[in-house]
Amino acid sequence: MAKLNPNLLYLTLLLFSIAVASAHVFFEERFDDGWESRWVKSDWKKDENMAGEWNYTAGKWNGDPNDKGIQTSEDYRFYAISAEFPEFSNKDKTLVFQFNVKHEQKLDCGGGYMKLLSGDVDQKKFGGDTPYSIMFGPDICGYSTKKVHAILNYNNTNHLIKKEVPCETDQLTHVYTFILRPDATYTILIDNVEKQSGSLYSDWDLLPPKKIKDPEAKKPEDWDDKEYIPDPEDKKPEGYDDIPKEIPDPDAKKPDDWDDEEDGEWTAPTIPNPEYKGPWKPKKIKNPNYQGKWKAPMIDNPEFKDDPELYVYPNLKYVGIELWQVKSGTMFDNVLVCDDPEYAKKVAEETWAKHKDAEKASFDEAEKKREEEDTKDEVDSDVEDNDDDGEDDDDAKEKDDREDDSADAKEKDVHDEL
Ligand SMILES: *[C@@H]1O[C@H](CO)[C@@H](O)[C@H](O)[C@H]1NC(C)=O
Ligand SMILES: *[C@@H]1O[C@H](CO)[C@@H](O)[C@H](O)[C@H]1NC(C)=O
Repeated sequence: MAKLNPNLLYLTLLLFSIAVASAHVFFEERFDDGWESRWVKSDWKKDENMAGEWNYTAGKWNGDPNDKGIQTSEDYRFYAISAEFPEFSNKDKTLVFQFNVKHEQKLDCGGGYMKLLSGDVDQKKFGGDTPYSIMFGPDICGYSTKKVHAILNYNNTNHLIKKEVPCETDQLTHVYTFILRPDATYTILIDNVEKQSGSLYSDWDLLPPKKIKDPEAKKPEDWDDKEYIPDPEDKKPEGYDDIPKEIPDPDAKKPDDWDDEEDGEWTAPTIPNPEYKGPWKPKKIKNPNYQGKWKAPMIDNPEFKDDPELYVYPNLKYVGIELWQVKSGTMFDNVLVCDDPEYAKKVAEETWAKHKDAEKASFDEAEKKREEEDTKDEVDSDVEDNDDDGEDDDDAKEKDDREDDSADAKEKDVHDEL
């Protein structure tokens, strides 16, 4: 037998450990040149002329004008686009789904979510009704909805996360990360900061609950659930019951023209007695025998059957964006599907984190310009507006209509998800 070269052995071990430690990337899209060959724009809503165009752009403000993404570019339109990757199962693997989203429009109602789809999807027909496995990302509507959606499909049913996860609401780029682990735990991060984490068992209703209240249990007859009782030591003060409820009004005077013969004997009208305190009640004390509120004991739920593969999506194959936008301007970039949270973190650092300060500066400049133009417009229109008030009313009306539409759109979204 040949003697093994120790250097070669060392190298082999080193290479092996690098291979183990390295991430498996199932899909990564930075929207460089050639992205269009990887993505399929759906024909969904085209025949109704309701399919919106994507703009390939770095956006109005950015940290690097050469770093482009795709942005919705028409108001009141549906958007559907998807990309395929080699099918895989996340069984025994950590699944990481991450992307950048920026709402350049001041979004009053709409989403910036992405989907992972399984099996065979006709990408040309991908739309709102196409079943998906995971939907994840921010959703904003009015003042009340500003949250991160994490919808999981299980047993052909979509389940919404039960915990509130607030999303970002400004007009800058943010990285959204969803991590799903083989121990059925998950973590949601925004900009590499953990915002929520927990278990698939408790934070979604995928399975019936493990434990339920024993439906057979009854409160024992002698269960003492009175927290306070009358103080047995407290005694009614002497003469308490002699205090009258009402007394003659001491300020009343017999009228001067009162005729005892004709009117009868004058008596003063009565008034409530300020001394009167109502029927006597002993004061309350804490019940020394108080056993607390009775609760039925928890038992194993006979309906619960564990599924050790609760977290498994056996044939993930596509990433897709499907949106309805009342106001366009939502932009996506740096889409990543991999098995390594550390790798995803590094990608976020190299992309979003590297450019965020420059993007903020670029945004601030754009805002300053916009404000200056607004002020200029106001001065101009003050001059013009003197005898044409009707226009403002029309503007206000249009705004109202849009808000109504936003509410409708929201309703549609929620409807679709459920
Ligand atoms: C695409 O985006 C750029 C940058 O925001 C903008 O100037 C341009 O008008 C957009 N094009 C369309 C068709 O929306
Ligand atoms: C899956 O869904 C069907 C139909 O709704 C239901 O009868 C069944 O109990 C569900 N199975 C699990 C494991 O949730």
